[in-house]
Amino acid sequence: MSQLLDVSTIKRDFPIFERTINGQKLVYLDSAATSQKPLAVLDAERAFYVNHNAAAHRGAHKLAEEATEAFEGARAFTAKFLNSPKDEIIFTKSATEAINLVAYSLGNADAGSQFQISQDDEILVSEMEHHANLVPWQELAKRSGAKLKWFKVTDQGRLDLSDIDSKIGKRTRIIALTQQSNVLGTINDFSEISKRARSVGSLFLIDACQSAPHLKLDVTELGCDFLTFSGHKALGPTGIGVLWGRKELLDSMPPFLTGGSMIEMVTMESSTYLPAPRRFEPGVPNMAQAVGLAAGLRYLTEIGLEKIQDHELALTKVALEELKKIPELKIVGPEELTNRGGVISFELEGIHPHDLGQALDQYGIAVRTGHHCAWPLMRRFNSVATTRASFYLYNDLEDIDELVSGVKKAQKFFKGNK
Ligand code: ALA
Repeated sequence: MSQLLDVSTIKRDFPIFERTINGQKLVYLDSAATSQKPLAVLDAERAFYVNHNAAAHRGAHKLAEEATEAFEGARAFTAKFLNSPKDEIIFTKSATEAINLVAYSLGNADAGSQFQISQDDEILVSEMEHHANLVPWQELAKRSGAKLKWFKVTDQGRLDLSDIDSKIGKRTRIIALTQQSNVLGTINDFSEISKRARSVGSLFLIDACQSAPHLKLDVTELGCDFLTFSGHKALGPTGIGVLWGRKELLDSMPPFLTGGSMIEMVTMESSTYLPAPRRFEPGVPNMAQAVGLAAGLRYLTEIGLEKIQDHELALTKVALEELKKIPELKIVGPEELTNRGGVISFELEGIHPHDLGQALDQYGIAVRTGHHCAWPLMRRFNSVATTRASFYLYNDLEDIDELVSGVKKAQKFFKGNK
């Protein structure tokens, strides 16, 4: 059995666990949607506003200098978290915005530029994508005339790479894939894909929203060109996302949003733009959110991402074993632990996930129900909705017990009502 974290100590850092839900202890199993926040994050944001609030990168006064230092310090820590140079980190408002940034930037490229996408080109995604890493590419395909292709998903919930030769070729301009499915919990191994992307000169973007908060990432080892994750799933506040990109690409890509602070020079007719990261950060930046995010990443780093991953895997093992003992329950996604994260989706015969979710809520258990913003993947599994439990560093085996007994209690309740 993998090593478990000391959850009772960790929980003391998260004030939300002091409250009750419907008179019951809160069992929060929805961290794949958003994580809870430790005091360190709340305190860091508050301290920024209380002591240092001013507009970063503007003004010659002391507070403006301190705000700039705080914002750039957050960038430096985020860079360390991903093992990247500081100027390769762009703060956006969300991972969704980060993916749109790349898609619009490519779409804005001048004819003849290395980034131009045209009707002879191909964009490659997978059936496993969250809508945030699908719809922006559909739109780019529509605008540019490029063809959108996708990897299928096997019955076991893995990326089907059996037809990789026909999917990645010399027309492929960008490959955009999730590292961990928000529905299935599958973790994708990108070693072959990144090699192929390099060999055909394609860009490669990784959506790490479900992985960066849970496992140790190093962008120098992943073989990608862009990687994005959202702050609010990594203990940070909402309103902050991270885009990592290779500097030489970022510096020559056209901007996405334009305005103040990202310019080099402006005349009435035209403008030139700063290098990254500021080229992609117009307007007064989300300073307090960046500071909060860095505090969240520091908290995760201090506990250790390897330990967190190990802990979640131990919980997932027990949860899978126990849930599979319920005859009417069907797991949607891989049933083995290899290349798997702490997200479990399931269906329960005769009970709609929304009803189950409401019943679980009565017992204080928070799960997500529905299509999880991944319609094509749900269709692939002939499902309209699943119930999804997702685990994080503040969950323990007691939470898994509560989930399993909650599902059984709900079954009895709904049977009684038939
Ligand atoms: N993307 C988030 C989820 O999967 C909201 O729940």
